[in-house]
Amino acid sequence: MDYIAINKKAWDKRTQTHLDSTFYDVKNFIRGQCSLNPVELAEVGEVKGKSLLHLQCHFGQDSLSWARLGAQVTGVDLSSEAIASAKALADEIAVPAKFIAADIYQFGESSSATFDIVYTSYGVLCWLPDLSRWAETVAKSLKLGGQFHLVEFHPFNDLLDGYAYFPSQMPDIEEEGTYTENCSGEESTVVTWPHSCSEVISALINAGITIESFNEFAYSPYQCWPEAEYVEGKGYQVTHKGKQVPLLYSIKGKRTG
Ligand SMILES: C[S@@+](CC[C@H](N)C(=O)[O-])C[C@H]1O[C@@H](n2cnc3c(N)ncnc32)[C@H](O)[C@@H]1O
Repeated sequence: MDYIAINKKAWDKRTQTHLDSTFYDVKNFIRGQCSLNPVELAEVGEVKGKSLLHLQCHFGQDSLSWARLGAQVTGVDLSSEAIASAKALADEIAVPAKFIAADIYQFGESSSATFDIVYTSYGVLCWLPDLSRWAETVAKSLKLGGQFHLVEFHPFNDLLDGYAYFPSQMPDIEEEGTYTENCSGEESTVVTWPHSCSEVISALINAGITIESFNEFAYSPYQCWPEAEYVEGKGYQVTHKGKQVPLLYSIKGKRTG
């Protein structure tokens, strides 16, 4: 099964829908609004003058928000449609950034560039079958002492939605609409894999990343679940038997090996 071709087709198709959505609010981003959330802004910290590799950058809105904060950004994504849109968006707002259309493993094998920061966020790991290769790409792309940051949706919530928590070689293959409000029932085939928190952490440690923090969050800045409710000033929450479900986690690390 050519999962890369299947997922590329899905993400190519989703890109225009996302650009047109209120979820991504591109109009206000063009006017200067930052698309980054308090979690990643606090954890990544000062980026001015630093080189930053954004893995699985989609159409580059978050990448360009880092660039507006002074980072020298390179974004990588599988979807050629998303990368073409990222380049067009960069031109439109006149913010310099480099965007590369590539599968993450292919990028990892062919690139020799190293960065001060590697950043990746919100819905990235499920598209990857092998986290050891992912973590090796992260480590290889960092300067010695460089920072790694992941902010990801929590797999515990996926378990409550009927997906596996523990890693599996066998992917989930589904017909799925996208997560923006304007998707209007349009579906694509997608191939995804579950990844537990310990699998992610172990893959990073084995690749030479020293973990500096691991945090879990009950609130998400994004409304991605029909059952989620908005709590003023905090974000979206999901409850199970009256208790909050972890919706996000973050990992901060440093390349030491
Ligand atoms: C949910 S999006 C990332 C979200 C991003 N934080 C945003 O909202 O802008 C996931 C991205 O992963 C990319 N992707 C999926 N499989 C990939 C692969 N094998 N290599 C590189 N990128 C991949 C998709 O094209 C998509 O843009």
